[in-house]
Amino acid sequence: MNTKIFVPRELKTDGIDEEVVKWRSPSNIALVKYWGKVGYQIPANPSISFTLKNSYTETEIKFVKKETANNFIDFKLLFEGKKNESFSSRVAKFLEDIKVYVPFLKLYSLEISTINSFPHSSGIASSASGFSALSACLVAFEKLINPELMNITAQKKVSFLSRLGSGSACRSVEGPLMIWGRHQNYRLSDNEVAVTPDLVLNDVFKGFQDTILLVDKGAKSVSSTVGHSLMDGHPFAKRRFEQANEHLAEMKEILQNGDLNRFAEIVENDALTLHAMMMTSTPSFILMKPNTLLVLEAIKEHREKSGLNMVFTLDAGANVHLLYPLSQKDKVMEFVKNDLVAYCENGHYICDELGTGIEEVN
Ligand code: DP6
Repeated sequence: MNTKIFVPRELKTDGIDEEVVKWRSPSNIALVKYWGKVGYQIPANPSISFTLKNSYTETEIKFVKKETANNFIDFKLLFEGKKNESFSSRVAKFLEDIKVYVPFLKLYSLEISTINSFPHSSGIASSASGFSALSACLVAFEKLINPELMNITAQKKVSFLSRLGSGSACRSVEGPLMIWGRHQNYRLSDNEVAVTPDLVLNDVFKGFQDTILLVDKGAKSVSSTVGHSLMDGHPFAKRRFEQANEHLAEMKEILQNGDLNRFAEIVENDALTLHAMMMTSTPSFILMKPNTLLVLEAIKEHREKSGLNMVFTLDAGANVHLLYPLSQKDKVMEFVKNDLVAYCENGHYICDELGTGIEEVN
């Protein structure tokens, strides 16, 4: 993709003095994971994810015209009503990095306020929903000052900017499925932006559920960014990248034919490989906790006994995502409450399901 289409042609200095935009963006859960990158935020392998619905970030930005245009990025940020140093410095770097694509920041100061629907310290990554909500606001404002920006370009630009903030964020823009990274079996797939894959999702996946079991709500011992870099020179990296491509190829068939047994095998294998990569990197990281293993064991055992189509996956942390069809919700939730809640920190879990991506908040 030629990313020059995302550089606005001219900077209009007349017009709006003050404007507020507000967007919501959900988190997503990868079925085949992104782990390892090349260059600036280009994935070492393609990934595919379900877009979620209930775990989202809502961001409001007030754009106020500067007295004189200048090259400084000027913003204030409140996270859940309070200043937040670590998030602010990540946003400062992000805005600096994307300057060429949002040149109107020379003309406007930003007052950003952002909240998450999920608890602050839940161990759930907020960078995917956070950067996509922020990018949605920036592009929405650009559309106001430049109405010629085509809708299709605007949608792609949200994904493109999000990716530069946090790779997985680019997959939150649409739903229920997004693929990011070039794969030969997916016609429109691209390294620069995530796209909706060219497939007809089988009905068994409609309304698919994700119960997020909060085994450990603490901060992760390694950031994703550091984790990705540990794939450089990793002894098993080459095979892992090949495997992810193979998983993607088969996943395209499964998502269409609805083979939930094979779905479970691939999704679980992919998540465990991600953790195996971390365990075998130098330095190594074990991100699962004892309760993570107990949850995985319990899921496998109950699946065997009950025949329920429950599938687990993990991101780079200790919490477990339990995916299952809507039609089995009552039975799975009974199992969650009776057997799994005991392994969750303070008994906490989040009920989520497939969603449709970013939306404007009125
Ligand atoms: C394990 O997108 O958080 O969740 O691009 O450095 O911000 P950065 O990394 P990030 O990595 C997420 C990795 C993952 C798997 C996935 O979502 O594909």
